[in-house]
Order: sequence, then C-alpha cells, then structure tokens
Amino acid sequence: MRLKDKVAIITGAANGIGLAAAERFAGEGAAVAMADYDADMGITRAQELKEKGINAQFFQVNVADRQSIDSMAEAVKAAFGKIDILINNAGITRDGMLSKLSPDDFQAVMDVNLSGVFHCTQAVLPFMLEQGRGKIINTSSVSGIYGNVGQTNYAAAKAGVVGMTKTWAKELGRKGINVNAVAPGFISTGMTAKVPEKVIGQMQGMVPLGRLGKPEDIANAYLFLASDESDYVNGTVLHVDGGIMM
Ligand code: CAA
Ligand code: NAI
Repeated sequence: MRLKDKVAIITGAANGIGLAAAERFAGEGAAVAMADYDADMGITRAQELKEKGINAQFFQVNVADRQSIDSMAEAVKAAFGKIDILINNAGITRDGMLSKLSPDDFQAVMDVNLSGVFHCTQAVLPFMLEQGRGKIINTSSVSGIYGNVGQTNYAAAKAGVVGMTKTWAKELGRKGINVNAVAPGFISTGMTAKVPEKVIGQMQGMVPLGRLGKPEDIANAYLFLASDESDYVNGTVLHVDGGIMM
C-alpha cells in the first residue's frame, strides 16, 4: 500500500485522468476527495467506487472560484481530518487559432488551468504547513512545453503551471512539501475526443510508442509523485507522453 492512511484531493476527478487517479490512489490505501465541478458525474462515480469498497467521497468545487475552493478544502479536512496530497488535475480546452480566439475563451482557460492551480494550492497549503509535510502535483501538458497549433490559451496556462511548480518547489521544499508536475502527451479522454480525427491521427503518428496514452498512464505518474518513493523528487516536470517530442 503506497498511500496507506494518506488523504488526497484530486481535482477534476469526475472524469478522465482524475477519475483513473482516484481509483488508483484508493487502491493504494488513500482516502480520496474527488473534487469536481460536474456533480452529476462526480456523485455517480464516487458512489460506484464506494460500492467497490473504495474510500472516496465527492466534493463539488469550481476551481475558478476561490470561495468554492476554500469551502471544499475545509469540507475535506472536516471529513478526513487532514490533507496530505493535492493533485491539481482539473482542466479545460477552448481551442482556436490566434486570429479567431475570443478574449472570453482565452480568459476561461486561464481561470481554470492557471489561476485554478494557484487558488487550490494556496487554499490547501495551510493544512500541509501545519503538519510539516505534503505532496503537490500539478498537471501541465505537452502543449505547455512545446506549444500546439490552436492552443494559445491552453499552452500559456500549462507553461505557467510549470513556472509555478518550480517556484513552489523552491519556496516549500524546506517546509517538507514537495511540488512537482506531470506533463501528459495526448491521452484518450473526453478532452481529446473533441479534437478533429485528422489531428489526433497526426499526433498518434508522432508517438514513438505508437499509441495515445491511457488515463491510467498518468494516474501511475501521479501515484509515484504522491508516494514516499518520490521524497527526493522536487520541482521536476515528469513527461508522460510516449516520447511524442524530445
Ligand atoms: N499544424 C499545422 N497547421 C495546422 C494544424 C497543425 N497541427 N492544425 C491546423 N492547421 C492549419 C490548417 O491546415 C489550416 O490551414 P489553411 O488555413 O492553410 O487551410 C489552418 O491551420 C486552420 O485550421 P482549421 O481549418 O482547422 O481552423 P478552424 O478555425 O476550423 O479550427 C482549431 C481550428 C479549433 C484549432 C482546430 O484545428 C483544432 O481543433 N485543432 C486541434 C487543436 C488541438 O490539438 N487541441 C488539443 C486538445 S487535447 C489537449 O489539449 C490535451 C493536451 O494537453 C494535449
Ligand atoms: P476531462 O475533460 O476528461 O476531465 C476534466 C475534469 O475537470 C472534468 O471532470 C471536469 O468536470 C473537471 N473540471 C473542468 N473545469 C472545472 C472547474 N472549473 N472546477 C472543477 N472541475 C473542473 O480531461 P482529462 O483529459 O482527464 O484532463 C485532466 C487534466 O490533464 C487537465 O488538466 C488537462 O489539461 C490535462 N491534460 C490532458 C491531456 C489529454 O490528452 N487528455 C494531455 C495533457 C494534459
């Protein structure tokens, strides 16, 4: 049991990568707070996991709204007694070429994918400082490292996540808190299901492993960075992309 007695908040856990992580973490002994905007899906998924004997509970949150985040963090602490791990996984896309990208679509992605990571981390930080230990894992993307056609907003936010990760690794390391990021490649979830087939085909063709990633591939990387096995890993960006770009 690699996460025995740990309490983990996973944002965006109602679907895709976050849901796979919730299942993986609980299987390793963690109590999992599945924090998501999507209450219908979140409640259903948490219930299904509970029926499998998994210690998971759904908490509704909008990571673009600080008040909502503060309430979620307090509710998790009240339910589980502490917070050891934060996975900043919630994210959205609003793709468009620069010439056509609306300011609203630019801002919406920044609010969730960049500001959301800042607000969730700041809200959870006091609980980790209090116990002198914690693991924070942020979700970047291959798009944030190398750029991607049609993703000005998303690439900017995901590159910003890398900057915050490294800054927090420097600020919080001495306080017993490790901060790292995972940069997934193209992973089969609802997010990539919206991408035109031609583009997905192109992307898959660029992967030396010859396939898109599975949510479980990213859940495994989150698990390593959340577990004691990564105690000397801090400020890293772990690329989990099948080698799509090197
Ligand atoms: N590379 C080079 N050129 C490209 C391109 C690419 N990957 N994609 C499109 N273009 C070119 C097109 O060939 C076209 O060229 P012409 O004007 O010369 O014909 C031009 O760009 C405009 O393309 P579209 O006709 O597709 O423009 P559109 O306005 O209808 O749609 C778009 C634009 C919404 C960005 C659409 O192309 C699209 O959805 N692309 C996919 C974007 C993408 O990869 N998103 C990833 C989402 S998953 C995710 O984000 C997870 C993660 O972290 C990786
Ligand atoms: P998904 O669309 O399947 O799931 C995202 C989840 O985030 C959903 O449950 C959604 O309800 C939730 N969410 C969205 N906005 C929210 C908000 N304001 N507050 C709370 N929850 C919110 O997406 P997927 O693929 O599982 O993505 C997870 C993370 O991985 C995202 O940060 C994404 O940017 C990142 N990523 C995904 C890649 C992929 O190819 N699927 C590649 C690289 C990074």
